[in-house]
Amino acid sequence: MDTLAEVARVVNACTDCQLHVGRTNAVPGEGPDGAELLFIGEGPGFHEDRQGRPFVGPAGNLLEDLLQSIGMTRDQVYIANMVKCRPPDNRDPVPNEIAACSKYLDRQIELLDPLLIVTLGRFSTARFIPGQSISKVRGRLRRIDGRHIFPIMHPAAGLRRQEMRAAIEEDFAKIPGLMDVLRIQSEPASENAQIREAAASFQPAPSDQTRSLWDVLAPSEQEDAAPLPEPPTIDETERPNDPPPGQQRLF
Ligand code: URA
Ligand code: SF4
Repeated sequence: MDTLAEVARVVNACTDCQLHVGRTNAVPGEGPDGAELLFIGEGPGFHEDRQGRPFVGPAGNLLEDLLQSIGMTRDQVYIANMVKCRPPDNRDPVPNEIAACSKYLDRQIELLDPLLIVTLGRFSTARFIPGQSISKVRGRLRRIDGRHIFPIMHPAAGLRRQEMRAAIEEDFAKIPGLMDVLRIQSEPASENAQIREAAASFQPAPSDQTRSLWDVLAPSEQEDAAPLPEPPTIDETERPNDPPPGQQRLF
């Protein structure tokens, strides 16, 4: 599988787990070859299975609204899923299905080599950050195995509960800034020395592979903050033309 199109061809013919039995269409994923941003969902639902395209139902509409809120459209990003065929009745994918299907997502990530991976919900988040609850890890950038991972809650959760939607919107709003920082980090010739320095210092320690980029940026921002200048002092003896008593000095 040397191209994303070839991955899609193999997926469309795949029978490597039992999910192939009930599918109408496999949903390999879609987006331009050069996409900087990769979204990873869980698996196709009813509408996705019918159309063979990811995130085209209600959760997809919310994803498109969220993209619009950061000035992007879905044709600028790559959208993939953990499993490429719809689990019956929208049940959760089971470990052997995720394991059978992971070779396709692995290859998509390698071929795309995205600047930023946004994991939507607990299944795709667990692929990179196992054993942690999504509510704990969401909204913080991590570098894991050389990839930048930004977990957020699944849009379907945002459709069910307003407070989840607010959290998703809050996290989504951080994406453009993160991409700016990551672009600077990948371009050493940048003119912004301060951010470049902070970004360059973001090397996860061996004992802490999932350190947050903000954990690195925030302290250096504090250190670099210049102390507030002292207010100018006025030499009382040099004040010319003091106003007469009862009048206010204007200048
Ligand atoms: N939910 C997902 O996780 N993926 C889709 O493609 C659609 C809905
Ligand atoms: Fe193959 Fe993945 Fe579909 Fe299972 S879910 S049949 S592994 S493409």
